[in-house]
Amino acid sequence: MVLSHAASAGSSDDSVHSTFASRYVRASLPRFRMPENSIPKEAAYQIINDELMLDGNPRLNLASFVTTWMEPECNKLMMDSINKNYVDMDEYPVTTELQNRCVNMIAHLFNAPLGETETAVGVGTVGSSEAIMLAGLAFKRRWQNKMKAAGKPCDKPNIVTGANVQVCWEKFARYFEVELKEVKLSEGYYVMDPEKAVEMVDENTICVAAILGSTLNGEFEDVKMLNDLLVKKNEETGWDTPIHVDAASGGFIAPFLYPELEWDFRLPLVKSINVSGHKYGLVYAGIGWCIWRSKEDLPDELIFHINYLGADQPTFTLNFSKGSSQVIAQYYQLIRLGFEVLLIDFV
Ligand SMILES: Cc1ncc(COP(=O)(O)O)c(C=O)c1O
Repeated sequence: MVLSHAASAGSSDDSVHSTFASRYVRASLPRFRMPENSIPKEAAYQIINDELMLDGNPRLNLASFVTTWMEPECNKLMMDSINKNYVDMDEYPVTTELQNRCVNMIAHLFNAPLGETETAVGVGTVGSSEAIMLAGLAFKRRWQNKMKAAGKPCDKPNIVTGANVQVCWEKFARYFEVELKEVKLSEGYYVMDPEKAVEMVDENTICVAAILGSTLNGEFEDVKMLNDLLVKKNEETGWDTPIHVDAASGGFIAPFLYPELEWDFRLPLVKSINVSGHKYGLVYAGIGWCIWRSKEDLPDELIFHINYLGADQPTFTLNFSKGSSQVIAQYYQLIRLGFEVLLIDFV
């Protein structure tokens, strides 16, 4: 739980009872207050290690989409970089370079329209949730800029999704004050119906979000049909409502299993895509990616330029400091498996 609740004083759970005879841990440790005295490192390790045994075993957790095993070589790379703060890009320029390589590899995988010498626009995030917040903010700002330029009100943005969206879309809507217009599901049809979605679009719609791999049943939504219907509606109305694809699960599945399926930047209205590196990107929890179609789709004013750690570094993330290990692990998986083996993994 994010918010912890302290047990009331005098409850039987006030302390952590260890079961060792060592004189250092003869007295129980207070549960919610820092102990008065230190204990030896071996004792601290033993107490925590033994208590953690009561957790489930991640390798046996078949209810998770998230990666629970990686090769020992990659585990070593991760441990070796566990003390690198990703945001300190001047100190760790190679890690930044590896992130940029991942962004470009994933953008190519999603068929971003990049020229030979062009680099992709994207960012590594903590997961798809952060990626979706960033994509949503970019859509909201673009829409606001457009409405302001047209002298129209821009205080009632909305976003159209299926009712099957993952909770992060509801979070985005609530945290960033965007109305969530959900297309209801119907008996036997458990994803967003593109026709109904396009009917719900109005001038205040910042984007329609389609899911590639619904959290509830894994089903891909029909992004091509959504794109075609929306192109038509945009022509009729003069709006330019874009599409975001939440490919948290499907982004590392569809390019390998269904290369002919058009769901990505091959469709002109798809302006951004997120994918969870920690799901079928095969990295432990803590990495996602957001890729934009082009620079024009990411308003410049959302990018912060930090310089107090060295040279000017542009960033677009919700937090500041974070670990580097997951970025390095993602790069490992991409070069270790390559397109060929990632494909075999999924067949
Ligand atoms: C479709 C979809 N979008 C977003 C998310 C959130 O992903 P993350 O856990 O990477 O933040 C999930 C997670 O299950 C998901 O299935």
